Amino acid sequence: MSKTVAVIGGDGIGPEVVDSALAALDALDLDLGYLHASAGLACRQRLGEYLPEATLEAVREADAVLFGAITSPLDDRSYKSVVLALRQELDAYANVRPARDLGQPCKAPGLDLVLFRENTEGLYNAPEVEDEEGVTTMRRITRRGSERVSRFALEWCVRHGRKRLTVAHKANVLRRSDALFRRVFFEEAKAHPSLKADEILLDNLALQLVLSPSKLDAIVTMNLYGDVISDEMAGLVGGLGFAPSGSYGPRAALFEPVHGSAPDIAGKGVANPCGAILSAAMMLDYLGHAPEARRVEDAVRAALRQGRTPDAGGTLGTAGFTRLVVESLG
Ligand code: NAI
Ligand code: MG
Repeated sequence: MSKTVAVIGGDGIGPEVVDSALAALDALDLDLGYLHASAGLACRQRLGEYLPEATLEAVREADAVLFGAITSPLDDRSYKSVVLALRQELDAYANVRPARDLGQPCKAPGLDLVLFRENTEGLYNAPEVEDEEGVTTMRRITRRGSERVSRFALEWCVRHGRKRLTVAHKANVLRRSDALFRRVFFEEAKAHPSLKADEILLDNLALQLVLSPSKLDAIVTMNLYGDVISDEMAGLVGGLGFAPSGSYGPRAALFEPVHGSAPDIAGKGVANPCGAILSAAMMLDYLGHAPEARRVEDAVRAALRQGRTPDAGGTLGTAGFTRLVVESLG
């Protein structure tokens, strides 16, 4: 049955790189239906709302969401994050961020690493209580939250031929909360004996990523830790322009490049579309088109052998690079 994708370009370079991703998808012979929807600052200026109900409806209807980026207004105190609202709408509990060497300038040549981040609880969903002396943040780790992201990561690793999954935590200090996450992970791992499940303390992980990242295969961790560590991983493989992501819920998933709307280069036609195109490849994999997902990744590899955008030391514009990808898919 045909799958439906809600497409939200957003602001700044968001629509530019999403167009590149759509061009790559169009070069494949797939039966995908698109629902184009608006959100973000430009949408607010045009339609009076950052996240119109029609967009939420498109998201509810879709099997997957392809998203660009949104500019967060600094002067609107009533603003609530559109990205968070979308992830909440999908109950997107598992955030997946691969870091791979596809031929771009790389601090870690040959790297092929993936990180799974719990995306709904922890420090990013914690009430803050203020008193005269300071502020207390109530960080909550639940058995259910730990269970579902562990299970997701384990199943993903088995399906994608990974050999080892490492849980990153600070259970040596956070002896109840992080210890719960750790314990649940190892309980869940028993169901997958073919996969080596082990652990690393978070600070040591930060160190090992700089010293010998290729010793790691896959990492699962809590919300804030995953946010920080995945940016470090992106830095190892060419930076923001190359980093894709997927946020998976029980019913649908959202795919977006890790970067923001990059107002400094918006409209100039020089944005690196790799993060968005590789996010579309993750989406294809999710929608049951694994061979086509691999074809898109191979096309990005082939294009990178011929040229790059300026952030990666090249001279191609977004359109020129995208053309190489599309030709390679030809
Ligand atoms: P950013 O990721 O937009 O840009 C950081 C730097 O990286 C800039 O110099 C930019 O030119 C460069 N860059 C980013 N993506 C690139 C690409 N594809 N090709 C070439 N260069 C690229 O982060 P920044 O500047 O902190 O935020 C800008 C706006 O984006 C803010 O309003 C922020 O709130 C928003 N943002 C939105 C996100 C989302 O919608 N998911 C995520 C991160 C930031
Ligand atoms: Mg981040």
